[in-house]
Amino acid sequence: MNEAAKPTVLYTREQIQATVKRLAGEITCDYAGKKPLVIGILKGSFIFMADLVRELDFPLEIEFVRVSSYGRARQSSGKITVVQGVRTAVKGRHVLVIEDIIDSGLSLRFVLDSLRRKKPASIKVCCLLDKPARRAVPVPVNYTGFEAPDRFLVGYGLDWGEQYRNLPDICYIEDKP
Ligand code: IMP
Ligand code: MG
Repeated sequence: MNEAAKPTVLYTREQIQATVKRLAGEITCDYAGKKPLVIGILKGSFIFMADLVRELDFPLEIEFVRVSSYGRARQSSGKITVVQGVRTAVKGRHVLVIEDIIDSGLSLRFVLDSLRRKKPASIKVCCLLDKPARRAVPVPVNYTGFEAPDRFLVGYGLDWGEQYRNLPDICYIEDKP
């Protein structure tokens, strides 16, 4: 890790909170009464997921999958591995996948492909951050928090080499000369 790297705020905690409430409103319109299975992709989505589901005032179930693709690099390695799969039955359920950030789309496509094989009744995606400029494969996104610039972001669950997940704001890393 570059010791000179300094996080600069891109989205404040207040902006994030307002965006989470907006997403929760959209999701409530579509899912209230459907008892969805809400599946967070770890580790990055843990804070977003925790804030989002507390804004959803209807019955739902929580699951997590953990995939790994980056190692300690900033670029996706393209090699995605499932570290922990879904244990709850997915067949016939309305599934809502919660992702922190979509970059190349490779991780999400991998997760969606494996969930589709389990025959859910429906499957949709909610991401907090989307970097459309970086997309390598098309992925369907139904709810988007922020359309983010093509920068490496940290904070609010997002890491760089496992650091910075605990920052309350979403920041970008400025490399000092
Ligand atoms: P993708 O497979 O390239 O779309 O990358 C998706 C995953 O990589 C996300 O779920 C994040 O965990 C991680 N990731 C992508 N971009 C960033 C970033 O800017 N900061 C931190 N993690 C990122
Ligand atoms: Mg992630």
